[in-house]
Amino acid sequence: MSFLSLIGLFVVLKLFVYLALFLTGDTDLELWWYDKFKNNLGSFKDKVVWITGASSGIGEQIALNLSKHGAKLILSARSQDKLYHVKNRCIELSEGKLTANDILVLPMDVTHIAKHLSFFDNVINHFGKLDILVNNAGRSQRAVWEDIELGVDREAFELNVFSTVNLSRIAVKYFNQVGRGQIVITSSIAGIIPAPFSASYNATKHALHGYFGALRREKVHTNIHVTILCPGPVFSNFLKESFTARHGDKYGLTHSPTDNRMSAERCAHLSCVAIANKLKESWMAKFPILPITYLTVYYPVISYKLYELYGYKIAQKLRDNQ
Ligand SMILES: NC(=O)c1ccc[n+]([C@@H]2O[C@H](COP(=O)([O-])OP(=O)(O)OC[C@H]3O[C@@H](n4cnc5c(N)ncnc54)[C@H](OP(=O)(O)O)[C@@H]3O)[C@@H](O)[C@H]2O)c1
Repeated sequence: MSFLSLIGLFVVLKLFVYLALFLTGDTDLELWWYDKFKNNLGSFKDKVVWITGASSGIGEQIALNLSKHGAKLILSARSQDKLYHVKNRCIELSEGKLTANDILVLPMDVTHIAKHLSFFDNVINHFGKLDILVNNAGRSQRAVWEDIELGVDREAFELNVFSTVNLSRIAVKYFNQVGRGQIVITSSIAGIIPAPFSASYNATKHALHGYFGALRREKVHTNIHVTILCPGPVFSNFLKESFTARHGDKYGLTHSPTDNRMSAERCAHLSCVAIANKLKESWMAKFPILPITYLTVYYPVISYKLYELYGYKIAQKLRDNQ
């Protein structure tokens, strides 16, 4: 076989491997590789990790996962009782690696931005350091574009964007002083591809990529890292808690157990692998969301043609099984 034929064979084989992973996998290729061969989860031992939105869903599962690897935790959300429940589960799962003093329950409404600095001081006073801030608190949305009240856009930005940016700025100033640290953002596939009927939500998640993409570039020659997590549909309280078009409303629906969603446990595991390896941006979603994401990012014209053919109803089916 000639040298050129060998190269051709290699390219074809590589395409087959990619295709197989696109069709069967639930992560982008980089995250898949780290998950299979170098998850690095042991590196969390004795790291101090602050998770917002830790009372349920993905944030709760990230906390449970990290506790198994001995990370010291700060758990934040508004529901104090749920946070204590998560704390107790974390201590159990840590199998002796963590004591009650290693997990600080710090109830907070993240939109109360004026209190961020004093919360941050609490964390440093308690643990003497912070290694990783996971900005996970957030709410989605289900609403028709033209019906959305501007108050909803503002509320979504206050929660999903400004609280995240403000808390992260405090953390980054501290990371500058100590010379290292990591900011983690729970974005969404909706932060890459705008999903129909979630305009304010899409905009908040796209804004996070803008803000934190800039931070990553500014810190390129430092030991300060930015990891953006992009899950597709995941089982959680998300749909019930979603914003609607009207200010003050919640969507209120729950998922059906048969929906094509990733479990919050799987999403949290993959998120922890991405965080441990300081990956820049990680996509995680069940088929067919992941190949659709690749197609939309790399072949936008083809992807929009397909969208015109199959319509937004299919998109709704994929997202909410409706
Ligand atoms: N589930 C999905 O399909 C999906 C997909 C992509 C991305 N995400 C992202 O994942 C993150 C977590 O969502 P989830 O799916 O795990 O939903 P979830 O179960 O509803 O969890 C949301 C968390 O955010 C907290 N939170 C909400 N408002 C808050 C506030 N004002 N202050 C402090 N904490 C607040 C909630 O706790 P309290 O109510 O106790 O405050 C809860 O702990 C969100 O950023 C979301 O955008 C989710």
